[in-house]
Amino acid sequence: MIDADRKKLDNIINKYDGKEGFLIQLLLDLQSELHWISKETIRELSLRLKIPASQIFRVASFYKAMNLSPVGRHKVCVCMGTACQVRGAQRLLDTTESKLGIKSGQTTPDNSFTLNRVNCLGCCAIGPVIVVDDDYHGRVDSKKVEKILGRLASDS
Ligand code: FES
Repeated sequence: MIDADRKKLDNIINKYDGKEGFLIQLLLDLQSELHWISKETIRELSLRLKIPASQIFRVASFYKAMNLSPVGRHKVCVCMGTACQVRGAQRLLDTTESKLGIKSGQTTPDNSFTLNRVNCLGCCAIGPVIVVDDDYHGRVDSKKVEKILGRLASDS
């Protein structure tokens, strides 16, 4: 665990120090800061909180909201619904995969991006659609996706 992450962990543990029934909220806070809950984080929590790692893992794996595998700082979703497919979603997905160097369902090694394909996002009229974090981008072509991802990569 890098020092910056350890500091975040310390702050969150201190925030809940002595409070009962805190584990779920603590895990959610950790996920919000670290983007996912790693085995290393669970081991560290177990030592610090004196709670068996198996119990922490059970709680973390019970809730769908908790990510037990790496999730990037930026979440990219390409709509593969029918209307978007008709308008070139496959080409858009191919470009996005190529630009990020990962396949759908994967996270870049530097944890900057996680890419997923999703079904209809409910805004078919502006397809093909890509959602980056919470921003919807419509009528996206290869050029536009390169611009969007390039801007985020330089911000990271
Ligand atoms: S099919 Fe893509 S938004 Fe509906």
